[in-house]
Amino acid sequence: MARTALITGASSGIGATCAVALAAEGFRVFLTARRRQALEQVAERINAAHGEGDRAAWFAGDVTDASARGAAVQAMMDRWGRIDVLVNNAGYALPGVCEEVSLDDVRDQFEVNTFAALAMMQLVGPQMHKQGHGRIINMSSISGRLSFPSLGMYAASKHALEAISDAARQEFRPWNIRVALIEPNEIATDIWRRSRDLLRAEPERMRQSPFAPFYSRQARWIDRVLTDGAASADAVALAVCRAATARRPRARYCLPAKARVRMLMTYLPASWQDWLIRQALRRVEDR
Ligand SMILES: NC(=O)c1ccc[n+]([C@@H]2O[C@H](COP(=O)([O-])OP(=O)(O)OC[C@H]3O[C@@H](n4cnc5c(N)ncnc54)[C@H](OP(=O)(O)O)[C@@H]3O)[C@@H](O)[C@H]2O)c1
Repeated sequence: MARTALITGASSGIGATCAVALAAEGFRVFLTARRRQALEQVAERINAAHGEGDRAAWFAGDVTDASARGAAVQAMMDRWGRIDVLVNNAGYALPGVCEEVSLDDVRDQFEVNTFAALAMMQLVGPQMHKQGHGRIINMSSISGRLSFPSLGMYAASKHALEAISDAARQEFRPWNIRVALIEPNEIATDIWRRSRDLLRAEPERMRQSPFAPFYSRQARWIDRVLTDGAASADAVALAVCRAATARRPRARYCLPAKARVRMLMTYLPASWQDWLIRQALRRVEDR
């Protein structure tokens, strides 16, 4: 019987690429996100590539909506009767400095990036117990271990996801349910375009802000990522496939190599980390 994977945020970017890659590994893939048409297109592409109508299926809903989450898991169980892998991938990057960011926006950032991922783990856990095995793959970021100016709320949501995953890895172990974190560096997807749209939503307020230099630096950094700085989502999909299929998956997959170099910063004193980040942002400004 084919193994199955449930992937959140599979309508674009890393999630869609993971769905294609897991299907190529032999998984039946169940895709969720809000955009129906995009999900349908990804599922059709996968089914066409494999010459069968049931390699990929989808469910449209907001990951922050408890009833939509439950309905998605139920729909997958009704269809295939098992959940071997959960990829908690849905997410976005809220820009904003600590003094000014709206608490409602921060709550939403955590609802999507952190609480929904935990809720999905709680939904699939009992089924994985019954099966006697399972894989939970949580999409973190290098922002899960480092925090950058103007992206502190995104980093906070990913740091929390890392803490949850570290605890869950040990709690689930007796049932042969493995938990892995994926920690990518900048990847060329829509996330940064969406983040820039959020940044530009209130241009006047940002111009007037004492933190205006942080906002303009953030916008330039996003422009750089979108034009030339980012790796492709294929490398992330490869890591997800490894985490889904390796006999002993690693706790963390940090990629590409540039990300592993950046992670070395976590071993440095905070004042050195701050200096390195300031230098990097200054370079972005000078370009
Ligand atoms: N790109 C990077 O540089 C990078 C680096 C490190 C980590 N990541 C992580 O990778 C994951 C995927 O991001 P991406 O880069 O592939 O960006 P993306 O193309 O914007 O994908 C984000 C996905 O999340 C879904 N999503 C967002 N909010 C949702 C909600 N409320 N309910 C349901 N689905 C929702 C989106 O689908 P709908 O809009 O259709 O709902 C979309 O499928 C995120 O967790 C992100 O933090 C990305």
